[in-house]
Amino acid sequence: MSGFSSEWLSLRAPADARARNEDVISAFLERLPQNRPLHLVDLGSGTGATVTAFAPRIAGKQRWTLLDNDKELLEIASRRAHEYTNLEIEASVADLSRGIDAGALEQVDAVTTSAFLDLVPAKWIDDLVDTLSERRLPFLAFLTYDGRARLDPPHPFDETIRLAMNRHQKTDKGLGAALGPDAAQYALQRFIAAGFTAIAGASDWHSLKQETPFQTALLDGWANAAREIGEEEDEVNAWREERQRLLDAGSLTSTVGHIDFAAFPAKSG
Ligand SMILES: C[S@@+](CC[C@H](N)C(=O)[O-])C[C@H]1O[C@@H](n2cnc3c(N)ncnc32)[C@H](O)[C@@H]1O
Repeated sequence: MSGFSSEWLSLRAPADARARNEDVISAFLERLPQNRPLHLVDLGSGTGATVTAFAPRIAGKQRWTLLDNDKELLEIASRRAHEYTNLEIEASVADLSRGIDAGALEQVDAVTTSAFLDLVPAKWIDDLVDTLSERRLPFLAFLTYDGRARLDPPHPFDETIRLAMNRHQKTDKGLGAALGPDAAQYALQRFIAAGFTAIAGASDWHSLKQETPFQTALLDGWANAAREIGEEEDEVNAWREERQRLLDAGSLTSTVGHIDFAAFPAKSG
């Protein structure tokens, strides 16, 4: 089990789907081999969000290797694969804290990930870039949190919560001290320094007023992070209650900043 529940992943899925950056997706799809079956590896796959995003857009046969340390989430991802006739899934329980097993990248066309890169430390990204550079593999990362978070209407305590949440994002999530909000920019710099070309764009969540369960879970996550990082319990609780009142009245929306990017090795494709 990881700290990510299938309930949370399904609550965020509609916001993820609206947020993914179309320019990044199109550029990535264009660089994949077009006239033969594809083999893609997805890191931190959870219940298979990346497969769901790409599967309908790839006409030919596609094989996905999903790597995650949560067996239950992978089982859900494997069941979902049956929705597609041109899709084969190999789900492997893998602890990615020590990087990617070289065997998983044999005869692979590209590597993807979603909502995972902000959990890893700088060294992990350095190793990823080295590995993909050696193998000349394209990479796509969806939905890396970038530190921006805004509630509308605003509240004077929102900024304290955001800063606390961003500090919490940099704590160890099981793979070492995470880069959190700095992860996407760090990775982009590293890929470019290694000779990759890259395309990046915003993939912000814009929650809808009626998405009460999603926003409730989001605010719970922020409040818990703020408490864990040492913010005053009473102040966090008062803020949390006030925000819930507006949410229940259908009067609160949230925007959370993310970056999508794809990186391509020189002369690939
Ligand atoms: C925020 S979820 C994203 C899941 C999925 N990619 C999505 O976009 O819905 C992060 C994922 O990383 C996985 N994860 C966290 N630490 C991991 C580790 N050390 N090794 C492998 N997977 C890990 C979790 O199990 C979870 O599925």
